[in-house]
Amino acid sequence: MGSLGTEGAFEVLARAKMLEAQGRDIVHLEIGEPDFATPANIVEAAYAAMQHGATHYTPAGGLWEVREATARYVNRRTGVDVEPGQVVLVPGSKNVLHFALLSLVEPGDEVIYPDPGYPIYSSLAAFVGARPVPIPIREANHFRLDVDELRSLVTDRTRLLIVNTPANPTGGALTREDCMAVAELAAERDLVVVTDEIYGRLVYDGDHVSLYSMPGMAERTILMDGMSKAWAACGWRLGWGVMPLELAQRFEKLMINTSSCAAAFTQYAAVEAFESPDSDRAVESMRAEFKRRRDFVVEGLNRIPGVRCHLPVGAFYVFPNIEETGWNERDLADSLLNDAGVACLWGTAFGSYGAGHLRFSYANSVDNLQRALERFAAHLAATPAPVRA
Ligand SMILES: Cc1ncc(COP(=O)(O)O)c(C=O)c1O
Repeated sequence: MGSLGTEGAFEVLARAKMLEAQGRDIVHLEIGEPDFATPANIVEAAYAAMQHGATHYTPAGGLWEVREATARYVNRRTGVDVEPGQVVLVPGSKNVLHFALLSLVEPGDEVIYPDPGYPIYSSLAAFVGARPVPIPIREANHFRLDVDELRSLVTDRTRLLIVNTPANPTGGALTREDCMAVAELAAERDLVVVTDEIYGRLVYDGDHVSLYSMPGMAERTILMDGMSKAWAACGWRLGWGVMPLELAQRFEKLMINTSSCAAAFTQYAAVEAFESPDSDRAVESMRAEFKRRRDFVVEGLNRIPGVRCHLPVGAFYVFPNIEETGWNERDLADSLLNDAGVACLWGTAFGSYGAGHLRFSYANSVDNLQRALERFAAHLAATPAPVRA
């Protein structure tokens, strides 16, 4: 248990809730969850499924017709021909990462993961006894991983590479050229890749490029995705992994030994999410609203003295650089919560290369974003950075 980490977002949320219980007004920009309701047609589909008896166990890998629908969806998105047997439905995409590590990695193997990155990557890698090796994700490189740097980190012990595009917490995304170069390196060094594309529907400039779709990648890649972000359905707990058949069979065995199956009615709801034009319209309208908020918050942050904010390509986070304010990111995040009523995360909650940054989620209304920006600017103007020994 000692090697297991946690998510700063849940920790800050708990502290913010405590302050609210004491009567404080807090703007919540800490948690990575869309603030929209799950589209009504998807809710209706789940309800209808329940009424028609989808309230029992399903096969461990998921209902066959839902695996078929997922395969069709992945094919539409990536162009790759996917067999339903290559799809495993799980209660939340986090399980895909956990199962990949459990089924592929031996103690002492190296797992390369993005830093700053989703904290669960290094936490679970360490938990299974692997050595997590960070690949720095730098602002100077538009928060894309540098493939030459990645190459220099691969050793004979490297077993798995974790990629996240578009990324939490930076909003950076790989270009087609980056994906091609990663694919070449993976083939050359015989790497297995987990590509976490849970934010793939939330790209604001250009189209999402899937690493899974690169030549030769389907046979060495586990695609990790789910309903949580694109369809504002975090609480439904439905994710999927797409991978080579033999690996999918290992995942099914892990499902039998853990959750048994994802909830039956959420599986049916996923078919509605994939195949209904109403769902596509809902995703598009949420994406358009996120884009409006992104532009609003980036512009507002860049107007605050000492703050510099890169325009993220996707997801719903901004990762402003606060070095010139003189504050350390942890102190600033704490004092923004305690003194200014703005809940956000410090960059190092996502790894040591997140130093000098904060992360704000813009999955919140423009009014609340405006209030947060005003409070942030006023706080910096009124409060000198603490002097550190
Ligand atoms: C990059 C990334 N991957 C995976 C997840 C987990 O998603 P799920 O709800 O499907 O478990 C999150 C959630 O915040 C995330 O930010």
